[in-house]
Amino acid sequence: MSATKALADRHKAAVPRGISTKTLYAARAQNAELWDVDGKRYIDFAAGIAVLNTGHRHPAVMAAVAQQTEVFTHTCFNVAPYEAYIGLAERLNAAAPGDFAKKTMFVTTGAEAVENAVKVARRFTGRSAVIAFGGGFHGRTMMTMALTGKVSPYKKGFGPFPAEVYHAPFPKQSHGIDTAKALEGLRQIFLNDVEPARVSAIIVEPVQGEGGFNIAPFDFLQELRAICNEHGILLIADEIQTGIARTGRMFAIQHADVVPDLITMAKGLGGGFPLSAVTGRAEIMDAADPGGLGGTYAGSPIGLAAAQAVLDVIEAEDLCARATEIGQRMRNRFDELARRNSFSCIGDVRNLGAMVAVEFVKDHDSRKPDAEIVSALIANAQEKGLILLSCGVDANIVRLLAPLTIPMEQVDEGLDIFEAALTEVVGKRQ
Ligand SMILES: Cc1ncc(COP(=O)(O)O)c(C=O)c1O
Repeated sequence: MSATKALADRHKAAVPRGISTKTLYAARAQNAELWDVDGKRYIDFAAGIAVLNTGHRHPAVMAAVAQQTEVFTHTCFNVAPYEAYIGLAERLNAAAPGDFAKKTMFVTTGAEAVENAVKVARRFTGRSAVIAFGGGFHGRTMMTMALTGKVSPYKKGFGPFPAEVYHAPFPKQSHGIDTAKALEGLRQIFLNDVEPARVSAIIVEPVQGEGGFNIAPFDFLQELRAICNEHGILLIADEIQTGIARTGRMFAIQHADVVPDLITMAKGLGGGFPLSAVTGRAEIMDAADPGGLGGTYAGSPIGLAAAQAVLDVIEAEDLCARATEIGQRMRNRFDELARRNSFSCIGDVRNLGAMVAVEFVKDHDSRKPDAEIVSALIANAQEKGLILLSCGVDANIVRLLAPLTIPMEQVDEGLDIFEAALTEVVGKRQ
């Protein structure tokens, strides 16, 4: 029996099925390559879901973590605070957009960062309602499930959810929902459901992650900013998937020249170690009373040490420029595939930096989503040694999130596998 099969059997018996996984058991990984327990090598175009922007085990990140473990691993910031927390807060305050005083708090997961952004927004404004977007994903805790705009599998059977959360339509260019239509949906919420004066915050992903790599038009983000200004609503940019150089800027919202009041970040920040943050206007971040924010593990010294190294690597290796370069290289290849008659199943190719999506449809006229081809393609690519992820409310999109440190030969190797796998899957259908 293979080591993979043996682990799959134990996995099935010991772990709940609600945690869905690939059948690929990691043994070791380095930069953009991963080897499974049977010694098979993969190119990793998932990067632990946009976590490993600096690659698996970047030497600088590993050295920073090793150094931190030599002195202490946990004290709890509330009990015995440490410089690493303050130093990274200063660095993120300087890096986040906005020419005003900022403060940063650290927690552990993306969902926790979103929870805390909502907490401080409510405390500061004294208002309860929050507006999120259809197709958005913000996490799996109770509040973040409420904010998430996709029922199955994230919300199904888990309610009731916290009240006062409303969903507006997110613009989706490829589905004919432009900025004007999306904003009309928001206006309808103000008419039908809640008056703007009761809304504490609008939370938006500049590029929807789980929802399908839908890129918010820049004028949409600018209009949201204007609406927030008009009504005293706070704008929260959820940059948990889009941030930390992934889209070619430190934060994706910078492409639109929009300054949010609060930014949530996680994933790429810790370079493979759990760390998340909320950075925002100092007066908003200071609204909560002492003891209202934090947590036992909030701002782990290990995660903070890793994050300092991640930010150093982004600067030293110019990873924002690399994200643009990798995205363009992938984009060119997918555009070329999409032009071929044999690949008419490709309905759209889009990217912002190294957040690249290939959307699959049954045909171009109906644009009906084709989830089957995506699952077959991902399975076939895995057999051939390439790790891919799907996304989208209809699970018909392949998303590509290669580490930004990946050598270009491995980008090409991965793209060759993608093409070979798609050729086979399409061939089998005919
Ligand atoms: C935009 C966004 N927000 C929040 C989250 C939740 O993060 P976590 O899974 O670390 O709780 C994710 C995770 O995919 C995300 O992509």
